[in-house]
Amino acid sequence: MNNPTRYLITSALPYANGLKHIGHLAGAYLPADIYTRYLRAQNREVVFVCGSDEHGTAIPIQAKKEGTTAREIIDKYHPIIEQNFKDLGISFDIYHRTSSPIHHTTAQEFFTELNNNGHLEIKETEQYYDDEAKMFLADRFIKGTCPNCSYNNAFGDQCEKCGKSLSPEELINPVSTLSGKAPIKKLTSHWYLPLNKHEEFLKEWVLNTHKEDWRANVVGNVKSWIDAGLQPRAVTRDLDWGVKVPVKTEENKVLYVWFDAPIGYISATKQWALDNDKDWKPYWYNNDTKLVHFIGKDNIVFHAIIFPVMLKLHGNILPDNVPSNEFMNLEGDKMSTSRGWSIEMEDYINGWIKKENGGESMADVLRYYLTNIAPETKDSEFTWKGFQDANNSELVSIFGNYVNRTFVLMHKLCGGKVPAFHNNLLDETDKQLIIDIAQTKNSVEQLLEQYKFREAQFEVIDLARKANQYMQKKEPWIVAKTLNETPNNQQLIDNCMHLCLQLTANLAILINPFLPFTAKKMLYMMKVVDKMLEWKNAGSVKLLSVGYSLREPQLLFRKIEAEEINEQLEKLKQKAMLGKTEVATSEEVNVEAELKNFKPEIQFDDFTKIDLRIGTIKTAEKVAKADKLLKLEVDLGSEVRTIVSGIAMHFTPEEIINKQVTVVCNLAPRKMRGIESNGMILMAEDNNGKLHFINPDNVIKEGSSVS
Ligand code: MF3
Ligand code: ZN
Repeated sequence: MNNPTRYLITSALPYANGLKHIGHLAGAYLPADIYTRYLRAQNREVVFVCGSDEHGTAIPIQAKKEGTTAREIIDKYHPIIEQNFKDLGISFDIYHRTSSPIHHTTAQEFFTELNNNGHLEIKETEQYYDDEAKMFLADRFIKGTCPNCSYNNAFGDQCEKCGKSLSPEELINPVSTLSGKAPIKKLTSHWYLPLNKHEEFLKEWVLNTHKEDWRANVVGNVKSWIDAGLQPRAVTRDLDWGVKVPVKTEENKVLYVWFDAPIGYISATKQWALDNDKDWKPYWYNNDTKLVHFIGKDNIVFHAIIFPVMLKLHGNILPDNVPSNEFMNLEGDKMSTSRGWSIEMEDYINGWIKKENGGESMADVLRYYLTNIAPETKDSEFTWKGFQDANNSELVSIFGNYVNRTFVLMHKLCGGKVPAFHNNLLDETDKQLIIDIAQTKNSVEQLLEQYKFREAQFEVIDLARKANQYMQKKEPWIVAKTLNETPNNQQLIDNCMHLCLQLTANLAILINPFLPFTAKKMLYMMKVVDKMLEWKNAGSVKLLSVGYSLREPQLLFRKIEAEEINEQLEKLKQKAMLGKTEVATSEEVNVEAELKNFKPEIQFDDFTKIDLRIGTIKTAEKVAKADKLLKLEVDLGSEVRTIVSGIAMHFTPEEIINKQVTVVCNLAPRKMRGIESNGMILMAEDNNGKLHFINPDNVIKEGSSVS
């Protein structure tokens, strides 16, 4: 869309059921923030909305895990996530909540309008029901084996292993996550959105109109949904957590979370308008509004198929683009909070930003690296080594170094003031630099308009690289040594430094959408106001006036040492270890599926590699700050070993003293919470998720081997 009157930018509303990791940040929040900051710098009318997604089965399930209520879960995580985004410079105009009354009424009105206009269908079908919990088993309340990849903990709405969207009927060996029992079927009626009726519209709108300007992964994903045949989608659920269906019904019915959540963008806009004395309607009804949804790839179907159909039926505008990212892996494996293989925004903030004075620049370092490896067209990978390299060899050595040298030399060679510029002495090298500045502005702009953030940021750094080369070629510090030998020498120094300073001002403007904290620091050093960051100023070499005195330089970035990186890697490994115990002890295990699915065959030799022995627990104590861990001293006859075991939720330390247990003795030592664990205690889990020791029927000598 050319020259829209206003922009509405959205980032997917994260579930308020736990901390969010840097993969989420890189997917839907950071690119949206860069884009919005760029639009603001152009003085465009833009609103950037986001907020917590507080419905769906993910919330009550987390509540069950934490032994609390759904309400407490959202009240706990909403403010934490909101603050995390702030600390990383994500500049939403509003961070709203779908639990707010204005959202509930907005979503209900939306439903009512579609329903009254005959756009929804009611169907009675049999659905899975837990006869013990007396509840229908929607979405994540049911688990089973994935028909696509055979993962045996797939949810009723999606397999977390292979990413496929599922419906409960597709699960093999379905089990209720409430009771652990196999469900029964029961009749119930629901409202459906007949997507099949909108196939022609979607084909035309996505596969034709937006074939070129949308990312290939988005168009491809939509195409595969259409090719598979669009089906009516239920938009209500039998649940008591969510937005109540605004029609009288016998059971508790709520809107399906994926029906209400995207309407959250509308209610957030309404609340923003109320807070700022603005009109929200043009943002959702006028064709001169450019609506852009930033999302991760698992959200494509909702933002490029379902929500657009809802918007069309409701008389709203459609998104102009839906930039979606692929996934960001971490150190060779998929990022996952529940498995502990992740870096939460909170971890990063505590470990890097809050730790040092002026730590905001570390927020920019993360922003920089995440954009550098943005998974715009294919999955990418975060490594701590890569993070260190991006910082040390690009931010420190190129960008920071250039700005610092410019300021130092200006103080040394030009008395701390912007020197005069002598047009008559301009040479080819100067001219090329001036061209480079103007061209960089244009290319960054074009790339940003096409949502190519990674390349856009590269262009900015490349300008700093060229600037370093320019300075290196001109060597004003050498010229200064022979000041009196050639009459023009001071003027030549002045010209070089003048251009270097103008280029620094340009760098501040161009880097601002990406690294806002750094841009702020540069403004301070240049003693100029925010207004200088307006995008239209970029490309010019007349930004700082001659004779203006500038401050002393501050270092923009600091070097990151190898030890810091090793520390992070160690932290990650420890977290993953705790994560594994957590998943094993607290995740509702799909018992029935596990009973049926044996592991692949191994050879006798494989088995004999394992050294199993009987030991006796001598002491047991809780591990500080780890709910699930006990530190045990286990007597194995020839020695007493320290073993850390994830059984604290099942046993008190007192009750297991002198118990005999089976120990895997030759497992490589692992550190958990700083304690080295030398072995593993074998446990059996019953139907109710309770753990039992595997021990001999009579007390026997410690160290006896098991085979
Ligand atoms: N909560 C969803 C997720 O984390 C995203 C919701 S986006 C919205 O995958 F459009 F529905 F709000
Ligand atoms: Zn799967």
